[in-house]
Amino acid sequence: MNLSTTYLGLPLKNPLLPGASPMAHKLDTVRRLEDAGAAAIMMHSLFEEQITSQQLAEFAHTEFSADSSSEASSYFPQMKDYALGPDRYLEQIAKIKEMVAIPVIGSLNGISMGGWTDHARLIQQAGADALELNVYYVATDPNESGTAVEKRTLDILEAVKASVTIPVAVKLSSYFSSPGHFAKQLDASGAAGVVMFNRFYQPDINIEELEATPHLELSNSTELRQRLRWIAIIHGHIKASIALSGGVHSFEDIIKGIMVGANVVQVVSSLLKHGPEHLAGLLADFSRWMEAHEYESVDQMRGSMSLAHCPDPSVYERANYLRVLQLWKI
Ligand SMILES: Cc1cc2nc3c(=O)[nH]c(=O)nc-3n(C[C@H](O)[C@H](O)[C@H](O)COP(=O)(O)O)c2cc1C
Repeated sequence: MNLSTTYLGLPLKNPLLPGASPMAHKLDTVRRLEDAGAAAIMMHSLFEEQITSQQLAEFAHTEFSADSSSEASSYFPQMKDYALGPDRYLEQIAKIKEMVAIPVIGSLNGISMGGWTDHARLIQQAGADALELNVYYVATDPNESGTAVEKRTLDILEAVKASVTIPVAVKLSSYFSSPGHFAKQLDASGAAGVVMFNRFYQPDINIEELEATPHLELSNSTELRQRLRWIAIIHGHIKASIALSGGVHSFEDIIKGIMVGANVVQVVSSLLKHGPEHLAGLLADFSRWMEAHEYESVDQMRGSMSLAHCPDPSVYERANYLRVLQLWKI
């Protein structure tokens, strides 16, 4: 049975990899992920805010202080809160690249046009085989149109692509009026892949202190369905690879991701909860299921439940909405 797949033009031994997370902070964890069978190592993000803070400090000929921050707001982390500064991030890629035999994917994360995008080149020089670009943007200005939000990402992609030759994937938000149309635009602009989706961490409200408080809860499998629907819709419409990110906790979730059309499935919360070795179990169960159901390859499974190929496409459309509402009996 053939578990291999291709993602961003890279041949991978299987379709399961850790997503961007603190798991890349420690070389020991990276080693354990590779030993557990990860198809590639995904770095956590290097953030625009870290890069611009360092650049400002260098420009002002001041020491790059661990306490310096590009923003006055207390909501922004201080530089010392980031596990690795920009230089150490690049060193970490180089160390990981030397240590593992699987591809290493860097991650660059920012929202504005500027010098930070040049770090894509440094990430490539450090040894990354590909780059994930995360434009985690919250459109807080009601005067900014959806078209302008999309153009922002396309412009950043263009700038990043101009500084590298490695493939670039874009990690998408699900908050677009027409995610399929936007994925097509990214594809036409040379994105080698789309990662669906970013998880938006919604702040909570502290009603006593009158504060919005940051909140991170790990995902569960219910978050998978949004990804399944949109990948099913987009599969077959773009040349770019598709990575599923969000809500993968069981081997069944991996199968569903491949069936709707993902080239690879990224997993974070489940590995943070159960440890890197959990990946080996997911992979073994996935492979056993494929064997029991007489699949010869991952390629054979891919897209069988996409909108274009599934027996009842209406399940991804408005009909599903009407049906589920009528199924609720009081
Ligand atoms: C603690 C933590 C740190 C993360 N760091 C990053 C990051 O640096 N860059 C990024 O693009 N996504 C980051 N993510 C998001 C994950 O890559 C992933 O998209 C999200 O957790 C959904 O996948 P999951 O349901 O498997 O957890 C992080 C997630 C967690 C929980």
